[in-house]
Amino acid sequence: MPMAPKEWTVLNPGGSRRVIVTKDLPGERWLDILTAADCSVEVCQSSDVLTPDEIAERIGDSCDGAIGQLTEDWNAGLFAKLAAAGGTAYSNYAVGYNNVDVAGATAAGIPVGNTPGVLTETTAEMAISLTFSAGRRVVEGDRFMRGGQYEGWLPTLFMGKRFHGGTVGIIGAGRIGAAYGRMMVEGHKMNLVYFDLYPNEALEQYIADYSALLVANGEDPVSCTRVDTIEDLLAVSDVASLHTVLDDSTTHLINAERLAVMKPDAILVNSSRGPVIDETALVAHCQANPEFMAALDVFEDEPAMKPGLAELDNVVIVPHIASATTWTREGMATLAAANVAALLQGYPVWESDDILPFLSGDVPKAAPSIVNAADLN
Ligand code: DGY
Repeated sequence: MPMAPKEWTVLNPGGSRRVIVTKDLPGERWLDILTAADCSVEVCQSSDVLTPDEIAERIGDSCDGAIGQLTEDWNAGLFAKLAAAGGTAYSNYAVGYNNVDVAGATAAGIPVGNTPGVLTETTAEMAISLTFSAGRRVVEGDRFMRGGQYEGWLPTLFMGKRFHGGTVGIIGAGRIGAAYGRMMVEGHKMNLVYFDLYPNEALEQYIADYSALLVANGEDPVSCTRVDTIEDLLAVSDVASLHTVLDDSTTHLINAERLAVMKPDAILVNSSRGPVIDETALVAHCQANPEFMAALDVFEDEPAMKPGLAELDNVVIVPHIASATTWTREGMATLAAANVAALLQGYPVWESDDILPFLSGDVPKAAPSIVNAADLN
């Protein structure tokens, strides 16, 4: 059945450059940036996920740039269409870009922007929330209270997990993983193990310094250890949190065999991308191990869940909201707009990891983050 046409709003209609934005974005700064770059901005008002055909239709014969969503399939055909329409700029409204065929964009000569640096602590904070919601059975307790089941304090009611002094594992020790690891170590004096293709020397040094501070105050030291295999990490972790990108090498990184390596009462947290976990295997594992807990922000077939997941009391589930704070979502909009505006005005790529200068005051004359900049020279 053909999809009903979506409603689009045109902002700053007098602008000489045409930019399409496939979802309405929070805040105002992003629109100010595109307006200052003389863009007429067409914003899709529908909450439906746009198909490549619907996006291609909106690109039409003449379009300078686009801001797209992580839910959309920005494939090679779409970038060819954008290039044929005269387009020279694309930004994902996300730090992750597994929905983007970057090679296809590069082949079409289109730079691809993303929005790093504003999600780090916010996403790590949600991973922390999920960790504690699962470990301290917050959602189960909430349901119990609302269901009128509470009849008084009991010594064994909803006993959960103590994190203090335990072991936290992070798979993927980039910005978000390292921030989560630090929060768990600093807040709860946990020992950290991490798996990553590259050592994170800054993280190791930070925890070594923190450990020295603890010891100087008469407390036990904490450690940070990079392990050689994912199995090594899963075997020792009281809580393991996933912070990888999604690509062929990380799809079903956590499968039935690896779940079997985890402690029977461990917690698995995922705020990266759903397909990193074999969700069917996770359902089976949680059914067979009621002491095991999973806490998920993302799902393999998002927005759907695998059969059985929603029925499990030992799983906490939230709808991909790890970056959903006003500051972060407005910051992502600002960075996506700054990427597109800078590309359309011929500005260079920002050289630093510090993107805060884009968020207030005069906007730097640079594109905050372009993932295929090196390939496009
Ligand atoms: C991202 O930016 O990749 C996040 O998943 C959005 O929350």
